[in-house]
Amino acid sequence: MDALRLARAFAGRDKIVKIEGSYHGHHDTVLMSTKPSVEAAGPVERPNTVPASQGIPGDIKNNTIIAPYNDAEALDRILTEHEGEVAAVITEAVLMNVGIMLPEEGYLQSVRDITRRHGVLLIFDEVKTGVTVAPGGVTEIYAVEPDLICLAKSIGGGMPIGAFGGREEIMRHINHEEVIHLGTFNGNPMSMRAGLVTLTEIFTPEAHAHANGLSKQLADSYIGIIEEFDMPMHVAQIGAKGCAMFRYERARNYRAWWDIDMRLSYAYWLFLANRGILFPPGFDDQWTVSIQHTQDDIDQHAHVFQQFVTELRR
Ligand SMILES: Cc1ncc(COP(=O)(O)O)c(C=O)c1O
Repeated sequence: MDALRLARAFAGRDKIVKIEGSYHGHHDTVLMSTKPSVEAAGPVERPNTVPASQGIPGDIKNNTIIAPYNDAEALDRILTEHEGEVAAVITEAVLMNVGIMLPEEGYLQSVRDITRRHGVLLIFDEVKTGVTVAPGGVTEIYAVEPDLICLAKSIGGGMPIGAFGGREEIMRHINHEEVIHLGTFNGNPMSMRAGLVTLTEIFTPEAHAHANGLSKQLADSYIGIIEEFDMPMHVAQIGAKGCAMFRYERARNYRAWWDIDMRLSYAYWLFLANRGILFPPGFDDQWTVSIQHTQDDIDQHAHVFQQFVTELRR
């Protein structure tokens, strides 16, 4: 929310482009097309803007343009159509509110090149990927540098926290005369302390290697079981994050979400929950291997998944 306000002020423009299926928080600004229905979504290369909730003013909707993920040409076309109107493109660089959808080779770099060419800021929402996929998040893994970045969740080590940052040239406009930055809980001492300790003392290179290694191992176990039982599933994993998607083919963009078998997703979630593997609520989420998880935890998880598949195939 604050990053978008800053981007608008910096650019002197109102419109924002957001990626279909990407989620950026429960504030009004871009609560659009997070999971639009087949009937409402419009053409894939030029999606409609579909508010995810009632109660969002029409003006906000009119200022939010939707682009498909993994389609740099479509983004280029949309920015050309709206030349001079768009302040920023915001995206989860890896979509993590529709399971996990990974960027195709070169996509993020193309997005970087295109936004730069059109004079539009690029915002990576790394709220879920920051720290969990690598110490430097997706930005580190794909070596693509956005203008602004949003972080939260894991950087607080369990305490409520949010942060955004970016190029000095942009951030310096936050002051009492230009872009104000307010909030009762901003800079909350407990959260700040937890964040500092998490980032400097707990997330060591060894801790990252441990969590990411276990996550890769879990993904490999899933893949082995899926192949053995020929399940209509695939696994998407990056760093400590991973998930099973109930669909054979990898998902290129949000539209694949409509093919996911929700009955199986629900059965899977419940089966695991009943055996002590507690995923976050919602089928759109994924595992996050914590640095506190052990080899036994991962073996147990893989074992329960195998049980689930065996039950289904009986
Ligand atoms: C990518 C992303 N951005 C931002 C948020 C913050 O969302 P909220 O305002 O619902 O806490 C979330 C929460 O899940 C998220 O996944």
